[in-house]
Amino acid sequence: MTKQTNSDALQFVKKKANPVWGNAQGKDGVSPDHIVQANVLVLHPHHKKRPSKRLMALPSLRSPQACLEEAVGLCHALELNVVRPILLNLSKLNPATYVGQGKLLELADLILAEHIELIIMDCELTPGQQRNIERLLNIKVIDRTGLILEIFGERAKTKEGVLQVELAHLTYQKSRLVRSWTHLERQRGGFGFLGGPGESQIESDRRMIGDRIGRIGKRLSDVSRTRKLHRNSRKRNEIPVVAMVGYTNAGKSTLFNHLTHADVMAEDLLFATLDPTMREMELANGKKAILSDTVGFISALPIQLVAAFKATLEEVVEADLILHIRDMSHPDREAQKEDVMTILRSLGLEEGPDCPIHEVWNKIDLLDEDQRQQLDNLAALRNDVSLLSAVSGEGCDRFRLGLNDILSRGSKIVDIAYAHDQGAALAWMYQQSEVLERIDTETETILTVRMDSKLSGRIDKNPSLAGRIIS
Ligand code: GTP
Repeated sequence: MTKQTNSDALQFVKKKANPVWGNAQGKDGVSPDHIVQANVLVLHPHHKKRPSKRLMALPSLRSPQACLEEAVGLCHALELNVVRPILLNLSKLNPATYVGQGKLLELADLILAEHIELIIMDCELTPGQQRNIERLLNIKVIDRTGLILEIFGERAKTKEGVLQVELAHLTYQKSRLVRSWTHLERQRGGFGFLGGPGESQIESDRRMIGDRIGRIGKRLSDVSRTRKLHRNSRKRNEIPVVAMVGYTNAGKSTLFNHLTHADVMAEDLLFATLDPTMREMELANGKKAILSDTVGFISALPIQLVAAFKATLEEVVEADLILHIRDMSHPDREAQKEDVMTILRSLGLEEGPDCPIHEVWNKIDLLDEDQRQQLDNLAALRNDVSLLSAVSGEGCDRFRLGLNDILSRGSKIVDIAYAHDQGAALAWMYQQSEVLERIDTETETILTVRMDSKLSGRIDKNPSLAGRIIS
């Protein structure tokens, strides 16, 4: 028997990172056409009764139909050929197959007649449930987590993005490497991890995956360290970072492009942009800010992804301002907001003075007159909302001009007097704050400055940094 080389091992891991059709670029001997041609059945199981604790994590604010449509949208993001989306009303959860076996077997004729090759179950399946359904219907099955991981795998372009997605895939796979998976390999000699490895390989596969996870984790810590160094240098130069977050397809990249004159991919595709992009933009006061476009969020975002994308999401956690971009034309906009807030909370962010979140109500061009009026009325009651259309440009200039004020929300205007021998402290204040006015008298210079909460904190700790604070 030949010894397996590192590159063989990597190849195995890569194959496994592409569950359904091998590598999307057509490596691993699988034609990309296969993706387009794969006939898919999308099932969204809907619980008629109050959901059990385990199901609470699934989208609950939306209608079942909307959930099904979103699942179809996810399939389209991979250009899968969705033959039939089906809503399955469940009265109870079947522990072995999630959906009752009778209901599943009712699909057998359809699977044959429509040449279905893959079932997407829009729910979270245990490895055992996935295996049992595959066995029952003799077809490949992936759940929502698997599907989202697959989309992320397709979209990742930068080294960091690729590493993060691979880490998420491997973590997911590791939990799914169970002996009984071999049934699929025997039956269909499948490829990718849904095909399942040979029984004798399981232990060494698990070890290999564990090793790879360790190596990626190390490389990602390096990425994280480099990001931290960059952040520190931006902080030293007092360039504020504005991070954009939002539900997938809300219009983040379109707005990002509008504000920074960049050319980030913006498409009517879920998760069109995955890798974080940062660009400098000029604020109305002539100072600069860094705008950062991050990965789109979605309901029930796989925990493996949130964990793997830690380095990327740190940019959001550390940002001076978070812009929450919302598609106000979407019927599920409130549910989407809740999903985004849930993810932000899972990152340890709670709305408050330390975490300013400003909502950008986007896509107002798609609203009718009444809807628009309603939103205008709501927005008038709040000071943390901007209405705009990133496509028509309406409201964008006003937003750009107001961004400086939004950034300085929570800041205060302070008068500080400097004796003439305090030139260094005076110069430092010029660097650190926005100087609104300067009066020179015979004995001192009085600055009126806008001071944000971070700067106030630094001065409180070290008063010698400032002159004499008058008010
Ligand atoms: P992800 O990459 O999935 O996170 O999406 P995103 O939030 O970056 O959205 P993106 O900018 O890619 O926009 C998604 C779709 O919405 C594209 O087809 C845009 O043209 C469209 N879109 C964005 N903003 C607006 C808007 O203000 N009005 C209208 N009508 N369409 C918009």
